[in-house]
Amino acid sequence: PLPPAFRTPLPLPAVLKPVATVGGVDRYEVTQREAAIEILPGVRTPMWTYEGVFPGPTIEARRGRPVTVTHRNELPVPTVVHLHGGHTTAASDGYPTDLVLPEGRHDATHMAHHMHDMPGMGDPRAVVTRLTRDYTFPMDQRSTMLWYHDHRMDFTAPAIWRGLAGLHIIRDEEEEGLGLPAGDRELPLVITDRAFDGEGGLLYPSLDPGLRERPGVRESYLAGVLGDVILVNGAPWPVHEVDAVRHRLRVLNASNARHYELEAVTDDGRRLDLVQIGADQGLLAGPVTHRSLPIAPAERYDLVVDFSGVPAGGRVRLRNRLGSGRTREVMAFRIARTAADPSRVPPVLSRDLPSWQRPDAARVRDFSFRAGRMHGGHGWLIGGLPFDPARTDVTTRLGDVEIWRLIADVHHPVHLHLVGFRVLSRGGRAPRPHDAGLKDTLSLRPGESAEIITRFTGYRGRYLFHCHNAEHEDMGMMANLEII
Ligand code: C2O
Ligand code: CU
Repeated sequence: PLPPAFRTPLPLPAVLKPVATVGGVDRYEVTQREAAIEILPGVRTPMWTYEGVFPGPTIEARRGRPVTVTHRNELPVPTVVHLHGGHTTAASDGYPTDLVLPEGRHDATHMAHHMHDMPGMGDPRAVVTRLTRDYTFPMDQRSTMLWYHDHRMDFTAPAIWRGLAGLHIIRDEEEEGLGLPAGDRELPLVITDRAFDGEGGLLYPSLDPGLRERPGVRESYLAGVLGDVILVNGAPWPVHEVDAVRHRLRVLNASNARHYELEAVTDDGRRLDLVQIGADQGLLAGPVTHRSLPIAPAERYDLVVDFSGVPAGGRVRLRNRLGSGRTREVMAFRIARTAADPSRVPPVLSRDLPSWQRPDAARVRDFSFRAGRMHGGHGWLIGGLPFDPARTDVTTRLGDVEIWRLIADVHHPVHLHLVGFRVLSRGGRAPRPHDAGLKDTLSLRPGESAEIITRFTGYRGRYLFHCHNAEHEDMGMMANLEII
């Protein structure tokens, strides 16, 4: 039986402590392992975890202060770690064939070899394997909320579904000086949907439940896998007690395929403003007020919601306008008491946003995101082609500004590794209010086109861009970007 809504307290992901600080670099260790976690009350759900928890532990970083994370893989399959939104060298970016092999498994080498035989795997020399792996993140980027998740070739979606996702927050003095709600008035909210069987096990329509050999999902799930239970920070439809003051809600949609349109509604039907202060890649120039806000897989929104108008004892529900029945609800806030509120939302939030304009662009590229045939079956294609690690799809020069024109058949959240971008237009018109700021994931709606502008800065090497509907990503919708 599913739990009643708004009874489970909202868990807050634990913050990981560095194991050492050497030469100004914070070193962390993360063990990836199986764990049985109480998600639904009274039952244990077998999951794949970072450090035995779901979501994984949060890494709190400072802008300009590098972080090294050593990942040890005790799971039964190879994994790959990607820091989503990280301005990261290619060696630490978690390319889908840059495996962390499971420790102490006799079939580890066999599995790496097996991957070479799979269609589309290309040059076997591209596969780099380790038992543990150090990922180094320079953190030379704007303060914002990133997330880390699995990115293994062909098996990203089921691995994230099983639990391999966690937050990585970057802070700096500039942001801390703004007076935004802080401490226990700043809440990370990782929203996911999942489906469960009668014993509390996760349901996922993998062709190979071992996630070893045959990638993909059963044919009726080609569009993406949805769950009927909405989790926030790993708890079903949780409730959180708050003072009647402004709160900063840092929202990540870590769902595989579900889109939400969030609204905050009081029990007497009043909608509270969602004041957006930041996008995927950090603070906006100034706040943007929304009545409701669409959020696609992998997008983040940094919001301030003011509960001061809600009487003590009242409730505010975070709802999903795109849902129906149970998926209409996300979580609730119970207003405990009135309290002093020293926080503010200043009219100017950031002055360091890039100002690229059309004339700055060295070139314009076009990419279609559409369904098609791949390896004799159904797949999802970028520019008419399914992903091939051996093919370079785009070569660009370090430092160049480019405009990318994107067009979709169905809903595709398009994500670029390494760089943030600005939305120039959507559907032939000016961007929408929620397109403000610097983004790394753009929600292309069915039949829609959009233009984005970015500058490829920082590092040379091989990166990716792809659809972040995780099932589309696993079924071909990914491409290589080589920066030279
Ligand atoms: Cu969220 Cu290629 O990643
Ligand atoms: Cu897609």
